[in-house]
Amino acid sequence: MENRALLTVKNLRTSFQTPEGVVQSVDGVSFDVARGETLALVGESGCGKTVTSLSLIGLLAPSASVTADELSFDGKDLLSMDREQRRLLRGSGISMIFQEPMTSLNPVYRIDRQIGEVFTCHNPHMSKKEVHERSVEMLRRVGVPNPEERLRVYPHQLSGGLRQRVMIAIALAAGAPLVIADEPTTALDVTIQAQILQLMRELQQESGMSVILITHDFGVVSQLAQRVAVMYAGKIVEEGSVEDIFRDPWHPYTKLLILSIPGIKVRRGGRLESISGAVPNPLRFPKGCRFHPRCPYAMDICREQQPPETEQDGRRVSCFLRGNGHAE
Ligand SMILES: Nc1ncnc2c1ncn2[C@@H]1O[C@H](COP(=O)(O)OP(=O)(O)O)[C@@H](O)[C@H]1O
Ligand code: SF4
Ligand SMILES: [Mg+2]
Repeated sequence: MENRALLTVKNLRTSFQTPEGVVQSVDGVSFDVARGETLALVGESGCGKTVTSLSLIGLLAPSASVTADELSFDGKDLLSMDREQRRLLRGSGISMIFQEPMTSLNPVYRIDRQIGEVFTCHNPHMSKKEVHERSVEMLRRVGVPNPEERLRVYPHQLSGGLRQRVMIAIALAAGAPLVIADEPTTALDVTIQAQILQLMRELQQESGMSVILITHDFGVVSQLAQRVAVMYAGKIVEEGSVEDIFRDPWHPYTKLLILSIPGIKVRRGGRLESISGAVPNPLRFPKGCRFHPRCPYAMDICREQQPPETEQDGRRVSCFLRGNGHAE
């Protein structure tokens, strides 16, 4: 039991019907999240990270189609859940922290009502006094100064950093065993970013929750995650431990993402490497390896065939270079 993953995702495929055609945003994604673990899901904007997480919690537009060989959380099949079961799951099983707090905070309600609802949702008989005390405690834990006062204001009366903390407080108040944090610090300045990551680390150590950290920034990965899954054009192209991937990235895309971390100035052949080109539109994925138009190592076979996934030393990668003699 203990060794079973908290979350298992096998061959997740999510598409949208649009007037231009079918957009295959997530195309065969598989990963596990163990209890207490942080998995970083990394990739540039448009790779399918958010759609992956919304597929898990069932918060997609009706135009979406979600299929998977397995989608299980804590032994429960997510795909067979009805709307009400999913709503309950979002309360107590999987919490989501969004990039922009205003999308999940309701602008017309004061903060006390929004945090309080999390408590009363799980325990409708909780007294007003207890709801208040717990709310204050929760805000204090996420480092909101003067929590009593902050409870009485509306979201727009708080700074961006405080709004993010309030949202984290709400996400954590339910004590969900899995928190999905979608670019939780992207909109914040660097100092607050560091504070919030530190805070999440502390809360994780206290509560033993699992985290899926979604980010386009490899820089934040090493601060929080133990494992990394790199996503490109709807697929996971590489997955492994943070140490392995930073020490020796196998996939050229991973390599380029690491080289583009601000502050990492790796000189190769006398020039700085960067990723040119753009993430492909899911309406028109290139044939063969989807990264080939941007890959400095692309070979003829890469333009014709999709690279198979290979596993080696507890890591996996999808690249014809297969990690052997990896892209040097
Ligand atoms: N509701 C939708 N309808 C059509 N396409 C969508 C929809 N939501 C997302 N997409 C497309 O799916 C792809 C992946 O999006 P997303 O998961 O938001 O990327 P990321 O979070 O990695 O930046 C993008 O090309 C995006 O335009
Ligand atoms: S399969 Fe080919 S194009 Fe794709 S990442 Fe590997 S070397 Fe580059
Ligand atoms: Mg996103």
